[in-house]
Parts: sequence; C-alpha cells; structure tokens
Amino acid sequence: MDSCFCSSYRKITSVHSFCTSFKMFFSYRNCIIMLFFALLLVLPFAIVVTQRAKFSSKTPRKLLDMTKDEKLKFLNSFDLVLSDLDGVLWNQSEDIRGAGDGFNALKLGGKKVAFVTNNSVRSPKDYVSRFHAAGVDFNPEEMVHPLKSIIDYLNITKFEGRIYCIANELFKNSLKEAGYDVIEDPSKLFTESFSELGKYIFDKEKPSAVIVDVDFNFSGAKFMRAHQYLTRYPDCKYIVGASDKILPIRPGVEVLGPGRFQDILTQATNRTPIALGKPGLELSELVLQKFDISESSRVLMIGDMLEQDIGFGKNSNFQTLLVMTGGTKDHDLEDAANRELIPDFVTTGMVDFVDFFAEINSSKI
Ligand SMILES: *[C@@H]1O[C@H](CO)[C@@H](O)[C@H](O)[C@H]1NC(C)=O
Ligand SMILES: *[C@@H]1O[C@H](CO)[C@@H](O)[C@H](O)[C@H]1NC(C)=O
Ligand SMILES: *[C@@H]1O[C@H](CO)[C@@H](O)[C@H](O)[C@H]1NC(C)=O
Ligand SMILES: *[C@@H]1O[C@H](CO)[C@@H](O)[C@H](O)[C@H]1NC(C)=O
Ligand SMILES: *[C@@H]1O[C@H](CO)[C@@H](O)[C@H](O)[C@H]1NC(C)=O
Ligand SMILES: [Mg+2]
Repeated sequence: MDSCFCSSYRKITSVHSFCTSFKMFFSYRNCIIMLFFALLLVLPFAIVVTQRAKFSSKTPRKLLDMTKDEKLKFLNSFDLVLSDLDGVLWNQSEDIRGAGDGFNALKLGGKKVAFVTNNSVRSPKDYVSRFHAAGVDFNPEEMVHPLKSIIDYLNITKFEGRIYCIANELFKNSLKEAGYDVIEDPSKLFTESFSELGKYIFDKEKPSAVIVDVDFNFSGAKFMRAHQYLTRYPDCKYIVGASDKILPIRPGVEVLGPGRFQDILTQATNRTPIALGKPGLELSELVLQKFDISESSRVLMIGDMLEQDIGFGKNSNFQTLLVMTGGTKDHDLEDAANRELIPDFVTTGMVDFVDFFAEINSSKI
C-alpha cells in the first residue's frame, strides 16, 4: 500500500517536473492536457500488445497429460466433433492405426461426430465402405462436403432461379436431382472467332447463382461467362465449394486447385463468395445449424493441418485439437510463425481417445 502510494507519488512528481521544464514552450495546463491525450492514444495499443504477448506464450494442452478433472471438464465442454479425414482417419497409403476406435469411443461417450471434406466427387456408397474399412460406425448423414453443404444452403435460403455451375458432371447432376435448375453448359472447344465466343459468354437470361467447385474441364470461356453474370447482376449469388489452392496428386506432385480459379473471379468481380467448403465461414454457420449446436465453442475441430484445420476452427470460434498423424510435425508446431494457428489441444493420434475414456470411466467407479 505504502510502496504503491510512493510510486504513484513519484509518477506525479515526475509529470510535474516534466511539465515544469517544458514551461518555456507551452503553459503548464496545456502540457498536462497533452499528456492526458497522449496517454489515451497509447492505451489501446498497449492493450493489444499485452494481449498478443499473452496469446503467443500459449502452448497447446496435451490431451492425455490433463488431470482427470481437466479431462472431464474438457469432455463436457463440447457436443459436436467436426473432423478432417486425410491425416486423421487415414493417410495416402492406409488407415491410421486405432483412429477408428478413437472416433467410436467419442460416439459411445455421447458426442455427435461429423466428418468434413472438400471432395464432393466420391459417391455416398464409396464413403460408407471406406469408413467401415477404417473401423468406424458411420452414417452418411455425418459427412459434410461442399456439394451437400451447397444443397443444404440453397434449401435453407429457399433459393429459386437458374444456376450457372462450374463443376464436374456428378456435382451438376446432383444439383439437378435435388430439384434445381442448372443451366446446360456442355464443355466445348472454340474456333478463333469472337462471335462464337460472344454467343457463349453473353447470355440474355438472368441467373440467380454462380457456383464454382472442382471442374476437370475448367476453361477460360466458362470463367468469362461467370464474370459476365456476376458483374451484370449484382443480386446473382456467388457461391464456392472446394477452394484448395493446389491439389496434391502424390508426394512431390501438385496441380492447380479450384481456389486459384476462384481468386481470378473474385478479384475481377470484386465480390466476396459465399464459401461452403472448408475453410469457409458460411460452412461453419451451416454446420451449427445442421447439427443443432447453439454455440460455436461447443464444437471441437480435429485435424492434422495448422492452416487448413486449426485455422478454420479458430476463425469459426470452435475449440481445436491437432493430431500428429498427418501433415504437421513437432517442429512445425514450435516454428509456427502465425501463433494464432496454435491449437488449444494436441495429441499423438485419435487412438488416444480410447485411453482418454478408459481413464475417465475407471475414475467413475
Ligand atoms: C500412414 O499411417 C500408417 C499407420 O498409422 C503409418 O505407418 C504410415 O507411416 C503413414 N504413412 C504416411 C505417408 O504418413
Ligand atoms: C464410458 O462409460 C459410459 C457410461 O458411464 C459409457 O456409456 C461409455 O460407453 C463408456 N465409454 C467407453 C469408451 O468405454
Ligand atoms: C481437398 O483438400 C485436400 C487437402 O486439403 C486435398 O488432398 C484434396 O485433393 C482436395 N480435394 C478436392 C476435390 O479439392
Ligand atoms: C429441404 O428442406 C425441407 C424442409 O424445409 C425438407 O423437407 C427437404 O427434405 C429438404 N430437401 C433437401 C434436398 O435437403
Ligand atoms: C468434361 O466435359 C465432357 C464433355 O462435355 C464431359 O463428357 C465430361 O464428363 C466432363 N468431365 C467431367 C469430369 O465432368
Ligand atoms: Mg488433413
């Protein structure tokens, strides 16, 4: 108390002497007023800097190192597990040992589970057999992919009108099967004639949405046409599904992904797309609605990549758990330049949830 009084007294006297020594330039009163406003200006920055410092000193909690009480508290803090697949449940060559058991334990523990992927091309049947092979009790309703999310979004918003869709045949056909009016647009080649190109690009009928996902037949002409629609009709919705900048084909081989093509359209039209593929924000809102979750903090996002999975989770205000069975190694976590991508929790692999529940259940008795 005394020392506190002394230090504030010292501060007051130093302000006094500071202002006295500048008397020759401004009046004493003006000096005090200036110092007061300077303090007001600096305060917000000081707060931001200290918050940042708090943030960057954060390290993720290790799932199995938590005490039983902490484990229980963690378990009661979420209702839905939203998980990535590649690098979590399986990898390029095989199923990740015990990962399926980890998901089953979460389900037995009463958690809703949903798997999120950007790949809409696999049919639901393929998924079911793939999940069963990985040892997961799987229901197709638990799958979240751009095609499904876009159909849900159109349904929820009671969408009406024509859709111009740049995507693979399976994607377009599924939109049609769901009852939507997709503009016929067979992929074609052009001769070097502006009139032929013009006939294709300029459509007099107004569409209500342009949708872009992965299209193996991506072409300049399709994007010119989409650009016309989006610039001529401000109320025409601009929706994107998968938005990967690159698609890894096999180790060391990458091809240009749909995200790069969408970037061109986004820049040229100066429009912000409604993003219904990972890591789109509209996707996280849709997930909350679809799985009936009241608060975003009651979702636990699990993934193996800092940028794609943890970044998506953080932006969506979900809790985040990183597993080390995929694309992130210990040193990546330590070196991460962007400390905002540091997950809340980390664990070796999904199989750890088996031990996690074993400990919690044994402690109940
Ligand atoms: C895939 O997972 C298996 C089993 O967990 C592991 O042995 C293998 O090294 C992993 N492969 C790659 C490419 O990460
Ligand atoms: C843990 O115990 C609960 C009942 O208290 C049970 O429903 C659940 O299946 C158990 N989980 C595991 C992984 O054994
Ligand atoms: C989806 O993203 C993953 C990784 O981000 C990638 O391996 C995969 O090829 C992508 N698929 C599609 C259809 O975009
Ligand atoms: C669209 O929503 C209605 C209820 O609003 C529902 O009955 C219908 O099954 C939904 N259709 C699809 C394709 O999800
Ligand atoms: C590419 O376009 C051709 C011709 O319209 C079509 O037959 C084919 O199915 C398209 N490919 C995909 C992956 O959609
Ligand atoms: Mg992954």
